[in-house]
Amino acid sequence: MSDPLRLGIAGLGTVGAGVVKIVRQKAALLEARSGRPIAVSAVSARNRDKDRGVPLGSYAWEDDPVSLAARDDVDVFVELVGGSDGPAKASVEAALKAGKDVVTANKALLAHHGQALAELAEANDCVLRFEAAVAGGIPVIKALTEGLAANEITRVMGVMNGTCNYILTRMENGGLTYAEAFAEADALGYLEADPELDVGGIDAGHKLALLSSIAYGTQVDFDNVELEGIGRIRIEDIRQACDMGYKIKLLGVCRLSGRGLEQSMSPCLVPATSPLGQLDGGTNMVVIEGDQVGQIVMRGAGAGEGPTASAVMGDVMDIARGTRVTTFGAPASKLVKAQHSRAATPAPYYLRMALADKPGALAKVASALGEAGVSIHRMRQYDHVNEAAPVLIVTHKTTRAALDVALAAFPATGVVVGEPVALRIEAV
Ligand SMILES: NC(=O)c1ccc[n+]([C@@H]2O[C@H](COP(=O)([O-])OP(=O)(O)OC[C@H]3O[C@@H](n4cnc5c(N)ncnc54)[C@H](OP(=O)(O)O)[C@@H]3O)[C@@H](O)[C@H]2O)c1
Repeated sequence: MSDPLRLGIAGLGTVGAGVVKIVRQKAALLEARSGRPIAVSAVSARNRDKDRGVPLGSYAWEDDPVSLAARDDVDVFVELVGGSDGPAKASVEAALKAGKDVVTANKALLAHHGQALAELAEANDCVLRFEAAVAGGIPVIKALTEGLAANEITRVMGVMNGTCNYILTRMENGGLTYAEAFAEADALGYLEADPELDVGGIDAGHKLALLSSIAYGTQVDFDNVELEGIGRIRIEDIRQACDMGYKIKLLGVCRLSGRGLEQSMSPCLVPATSPLGQLDGGTNMVVIEGDQVGQIVMRGAGAGEGPTASAVMGDVMDIARGTRVTTFGAPASKLVKAQHSRAATPAPYYLRMALADKPGALAKVASALGEAGVSIHRMRQYDHVNEAAPVLIVTHKTTRAALDVALAAFPATGVVVGEPVALRIEAV
């Protein structure tokens, strides 16, 4: 019989407890598929006495994940603590330095330190795998790194924060305001301790940065992901989008053009009939476009105990089978620094603003747009509310840079009240 693959699991929260359950409950299946038993040697968390819904008494306990990472009876260190620094980073580094393979679900850690950790893994002849860090149960890392490895990737898009999609869906289907939908998500326990990680697009931005590294052979560059959250979306935006045949999604898009690598995580309009437009509730979707394969659409649970633990165990199984894949699908030393390009690919934009009740107001806005080279495709004006009339404009294809010139000129017109909302319309 083959030697067991011995896991050290740091973090016994939602995901960690889920992983322990799979190892215990599916032992025969895991062994049959990987060709060797998979066992837990030792675990670590903060509170040893907490009931985690699974027996832990047969495993050694370490208070410190760094000590767990260095244990002789651990072959694979499974990091499920979370956080971009602190014990997660220290323990992953310790494990790699001790020559252990590492599996993690930690997008924040890899978005901030992915390149250094990938280099450390390769220097120590270890693998560092992170399927669960992106889109939970959807095996998107494996798809990009392995199944689609022979493709030039032309674009990757994703709805990768279930909480934001839940809020937007409730605004649309339930007629709730943003504040009401946010409160509902909070009451259901969907929001992170710091909600800005969700609604500010940061969590989803981390995931996008990881996908673009694999897709384009570039070093992870989270700092250059253009982030915009969903906090400024109003129910009227949702309704207007709907009237025009679109849905609003917090959409991640990355693509490499002659101008450089574009990475954005922002609310966008997508056709209501597209798979992305039809994605309701807390589900995730990743769309990958390759020059040979065309478009691949992957949909599934982006979070939760079972789906996330499933992805962690997929990585563990690969290690058990002897599959060795580089962290970002190419040797770390070959990953290039991306030339950043800010949303340079032209697209139509949706603009919502309020105009003062003054003669010629609309003409002034149209002229500011025209002077910036932005042409109007269609426009609607609504009845005045409190001395200002909501106006909706859809532009022809333009660059974000040109649009920004127009937006910067709006205050000088003296007719635009408050800050306009500008959303890209993504062709999908
Ligand atoms: N939850 C999901 O659906 C999901 C989906 C995808 C990815 N992820 C990622 O998976 C990771 C874990 O998430 P989670 O939801 O399972 O988190 P969680 O429920 O908050 O669990 C975190 C665990 O880490 C332990 N921990 C925290 N600080 C520690 C320290 N200094 N030393 C030792 N243990 C420590 C905690 O111990 P105590 O229990 O004793 O407090 C807890 O068991 C994160 O990177 C997260 O982003 C989660």
